[in-house]
Formats: sequence, structure tokens, C-alpha cells
Amino acid sequence: MACVGGGSNAIGLFAPFLDDPVELVGVEPGGSGTKLGEHAATMSYGTAGTIHGFKCYLLQTEAGEPGPVHSIASGLDYPGVGPEHSHLKDTGRVHYTVASDNECLEAFYLLSRTEGIIPALESSHALAGAIRLAKQRDRGIILINLSGRGDKDLDYVTETFGYGDEYLKDWF
Ligand SMILES: Cc1ncc(COP(=O)(O)O)c(C=O)c1O
Repeated sequence: MACVGGGSNAIGLFAPFLDDPVELVGVEPGGSGTKLGEHAATMSYGTAGTIHGFKCYLLQTEAGEPGPVHSIASGLDYPGVGPEHSHLKDTGRVHYTVASDNECLEAFYLLSRTEGIIPALESSHALAGAIRLAKQRDRGIILINLSGRGDKDLDYVTETFGYGDEYLKDWF
């Protein structure tokens, strides 16, 4: 399980496992809604296009220009995605899903407060995807790529959203 912005941390985790009998899941930034400009979920909502000279899934305007994007995680705010991910989506080898800004915050607070590990908001998307999957499964192991630490996000999160009681009310 790994978050997908441009796709580098996810492809780094997935590549050694592509031929192995494991599920691989990429979690895209679902932002605040499904309209263009409210998210940055390139493969979930995009269409084939060209950015930086390569073809991939792309969030684009009617004119074929890269479209506006939003995510609470600035590192995931990108309208394109690596071509290898686009291929892995088309072949079905990797499943791609989305986590919203709110799900990301819930995961951020949960790991911080239960384990003392502060994940980056980008990585919190992978955590949110894992939490959702874990609720659907009786057993198994989920390996989550914590692509970065959340110290950089702590001031923004606490000043904007507080310490998470509201987000964790279903947990404790
Ligand atoms: C901590 C962290 N994780 C993930 C990403 C997303 O990038 P990528 O999908 O290319 O790994 C970023 C981008 O800045 C990041 O800072």
C-alpha cells in the first residue's frame, strides 16, 4: 500500500513485488470532492493525455492542458502520474483507489496518537487506504509505505484542524 502523487515512492515499493502473489494498492489523493480541481486522483478520474512529453493518465482541461488539482498533501498535488503506473492500472496488476482529505487526516491523527509515529500527509493517504482495507479483511498482513515523516505538516495540521479529537471520535 503506497500513496501515489507522481508515483515514485509507490513504484519503488511495488517494483520488486510485481511478479509475486501479493496485492499491490496505490492510494490517490481524493481531496474534497470528485470534480476537476477538487482532487488530484489522476488514475481514478483522469483520461489519457500528455504532460512533460510523456503519455499517462492525466487530469486535463477540455483543451488538453494539465488541469487544476487539490490535495491536503502538497506533495500529491500533481495532475499527471508516471507512465509505469498508467500501464499497471491498465493491465490490472495494481489496484488504485482514493483517500479523501478527511480520511487522510483521520489516519494522520490515528498513527500519531496511537504509535507516536507522525506520518507525512502524503503517506497518510496510504494509511487511510490500509485502514479501509483492514476493515474489509479478517486476516492478513498489510505493508504500508511511510514515504515521509510528518514533522513538516504538524504546525499546519494542528493550527488548522486541532489535535484530532473530532477525527478520532469513532476510535476511542
Ligand atoms: C512524503 C512524500 N510522500 C509522497 C510524495 C508523493 O510523490 P510520489 O508519488 O512521486 O512518491 C511526496 C511528494 O512530495 C512526499 O513528500
